[in-house]
Amino acid sequence: MITGKAVEIAAEVYWIGALDPRLREFDIILKTANGTTYNAYCVRGQHGVVVIDTVKASHADEFFTRLEQVAHYEEIQAIILNHLEPDHSGALPELIRRAPQARVYLSHRGQMMLKGIIKDEVLEYIPVGTGDTIDLGERQLRFLHTPFLHWPDTQCTYLEKEGILFSGDIFGCHFCDTRLFNDKVGDFRAAFEYYYAHIMRPFREHVLEALALIEPLPLNLLAPAHGPILRDSPDSYVQRYRQLAAPLLTNEAAKQEKTLLIFYISAYGNTTRMAQAISEGAETVKGVRISLYDLQGGEVSAFVDLIEEADGLVFGSPTINGDAVKPIWDLLSSLALVKVRGKLGAAFGSYGWSGEAVSLIEDRLRGLKLRVPVKGSKIKLIPTDTELEQCHRFGRELALQLTGQTEQRFITLDELVRETNHA
Ligand code: FEO
Repeated sequence: MITGKAVEIAAEVYWIGALDPRLREFDIILKTANGTTYNAYCVRGQHGVVVIDTVKASHADEFFTRLEQVAHYEEIQAIILNHLEPDHSGALPELIRRAPQARVYLSHRGQMMLKGIIKDEVLEYIPVGTGDTIDLGERQLRFLHTPFLHWPDTQCTYLEKEGILFSGDIFGCHFCDTRLFNDKVGDFRAAFEYYYAHIMRPFREHVLEALALIEPLPLNLLAPAHGPILRDSPDSYVQRYRQLAAPLLTNEAAKQEKTLLIFYISAYGNTTRMAQAISEGAETVKGVRISLYDLQGGEVSAFVDLIEEADGLVFGSPTINGDAVKPIWDLLSSLALVKVRGKLGAAFGSYGWSGEAVSLIEDRLRGLKLRVPVKGSKIKLIPTDTELEQCHRFGRELALQLTGQTEQRFITLDELVRETNHA
């Protein structure tokens, strides 16, 4: 149990962070039933003292109280910033004022963010990358470049010999417990998984790159920037990240083919008929595996898992009251949890009056940085056979785009006029 005291987590390595037990929402989007901690650390060595990260500005007093228990400001030789988001850099300006001799170490990408924090103050800082070190005499700190977990600037710092990894947000979670260590605190597994799902998951490929650097390290302790300090079985948390970043099941479809997912919902069956025609059109192109899902019969979270690995996404919705329907928006709003940038996107739907749903969905897809190379397909009320043929062609065109093929298309003047009128 800690009561305003710094905590020695290894020989001459101290936790000097702050507790925020009453926080119930972090960055607006995250729920924090157990509050959070802002973990900062202090490492003493023959050549001086290093401070690793600070805390949120509102908790700076707590941080300085703990820091002063284990070091004098004039001893501080270096301040390492593993991550510059305000919950870790909030006390930095004041720390710099109290320890003006300290050099700041941060990633190359962190430099612009640092300037945004210190504004016009003059500060000596040193950008570092993988392999760069700080020599503290009998002990060394080594940097690992682990960007985009979850900001461009993020990095980790490894205390050699002791095998301690100061990992920033990686391996962290929002869970405040004064018992501090993972073998003492309450069951925080749900918070750990929730944090990964909401913070790290969209950056899966960067998680894998970071794991390639972290897994070879002998690890005695993981010291993240939030939540419990992981001293019991630290490797198991690394392994869990490996599992979470891996596909759930072997995706047979993706082994040799492009995957196209078509999600739709229909009020009177018209958008369903369009979806089927689009699927059949896409099927005419070799090398594409098509899956068709009625949103009325599925759970968003399961679909998000599929979307993460798919190459192309098509969404079909009727227009009701000038908008796409809620299940479509529910699914689209969940896509912030996974990386969809660069995937192919498209929209379609039947409508009664003006048919805004298709263009609204397309706007959202573009906003998520999908490419939308084929203009959406919309049909007034009940599709005729001719209109279903258009849907068929639309599906084929999407599949051709997905496989990197394109087809010259010849249309009649009537078709051109009709398409222009529908635009
Ligand atoms: Fe804990 Fe990304 O800040």
